[in-house]
Amino acid sequence: MTIAPNSLAARDIAYNVHPFTNFRVHEQQGPLVITKGRGVFVEDDDGKEYIEGMAGLWCTSLGFSNKRLVEAARRQMDHLPYMHQFAHRSTEPVIELAEKLIGIAPEPLKKAFFVNSGSEAIDTAIKLIWYYNNGRGKPEKKRIIARRRAYHGITLAAGHLTGLPYARAGFDLPMSDRFFHVTTPSHYRDGLPGESEADFTDRLAREIETLILALGPDTVAAFFAEPVQGAGGVIVPPQAYFHKIQPILKKYDVLMVADEVICGFGRTGNMFGSNTFDIAPDLMTVAKQLSSAYLPIAGVLMRDEFYEVLAEQTQKLGMLGMGYTYGGHPVSAAVALETLKIYEEEGTIDQVRAKAPRFQERLAQLNGHPLVGEARGVGLIGAIEIVADKATKAQYPAAAKAAAAVAANCLPHGLILRPLPGDVVGICPPLIITDSEIDLLFDRLAQALDDTLPAMQQAA
Ligand SMILES: Cc1ncc(COP(=O)(O)O)c(C=O)c1O
Repeated sequence: MTIAPNSLAARDIAYNVHPFTNFRVHEQQGPLVITKGRGVFVEDDDGKEYIEGMAGLWCTSLGFSNKRLVEAARRQMDHLPYMHQFAHRSTEPVIELAEKLIGIAPEPLKKAFFVNSGSEAIDTAIKLIWYYNNGRGKPEKKRIIARRRAYHGITLAAGHLTGLPYARAGFDLPMSDRFFHVTTPSHYRDGLPGESEADFTDRLAREIETLILALGPDTVAAFFAEPVQGAGGVIVPPQAYFHKIQPILKKYDVLMVADEVICGFGRTGNMFGSNTFDIAPDLMTVAKQLSSAYLPIAGVLMRDEFYEVLAEQTQKLGMLGMGYTYGGHPVSAAVALETLKIYEEEGTIDQVRAKAPRFQERLAQLNGHPLVGEARGVGLIGAIEIVADKATKAQYPAAAKAAAAVAANCLPHGLILRPLPGDVVGICPPLIITDSEIDLLFDRLAQALDDTLPAMQQAA
């Protein structure tokens, strides 16, 4: 038996008596220690196997045992294990990766800057936008709009943009008054009684325009949005949402930044969420499935016009004071490049599109379960929102921890899912999941929901 260094007893599962009922919720005293992986499955140190129904943190697109990625890392380690990107240096895998990425990205994006994580990509995008507006002689144009329940990372600037209270509480945030949040595009949760989806979408577009006008268009720099909001509860926007808001952003010279950290590389059934929702981004952030998470790498993609202003400003200031020791690490870049080659050669995105109808059909069937208020998704991402009353959409008391109870009840059935804010359970398996594994995932989730029902009925 292995014990993780920081855990008291990694394999001890304690059964806590649920505060509202006598239902026993499994609570890990130590972490669930994962020791190995194969395809979409992982195994704990007790030999128990699970479907990794969240692809780790929405990222291991190619599963847990892709040998080509291992070999790509080994080859690059052998050849050139490190070189940085400062002072006009680069490496072959980074150049090749940038070219490949620009080749598949939405048309206007022409330049790529590599970093190590999604949060760093967001922080970098924010700083480059400020640098850009200083360069354009618009030093007042610095405010940034995001949505409530958005997740853009957890570093200092990204944490301001993330629209979830847990990113701030206890961390002395906000420290800056440059960040604003508008309504989440969840028609289910944020639509007014009787409001159609079209009217809801129009109202949200008006809200953004009203905010830009109230702040003053000369002070608003950018709007950041995940095509599908992931960690905030898998919010799939109305199809018309981005159509309605992009002309408003354009009208007031506000940059559209697509945060594709989760949606990028096939998750929604197209290469990018921007393709699925017709977004023409000025900047785009990518990470996670860029390397199937085998090594850390992320990037900021931008238009030529944006880049040209940065280049001029850099001439004026003497240097671009932006970069990271490990940004564009050649081994990570080689693995990312191999990941993109695999997507292309194996037709991974086409396969997602072929498997998505079955995934979405099995997901939609959960609408029939008494605990499920809404089952929603697109491509190979989805979620169920747990409610106490389907008609009123009332939720269980927070102390009932309904979504956490469902996720905990998935474990004995051999399934890892993740509870998300708003009593939502997220589902985001590796893209390589097969049809029969999709069935297994949803069979196990249905069992976990049945197991959770009696306790929740008492908690209501
Ligand atoms: C949409 C989005 N943006 C940014 C981030 C931050 O990425 P990281 O955890 O790599 O810093 C995440 C992480 O889940 C994310 O989902």
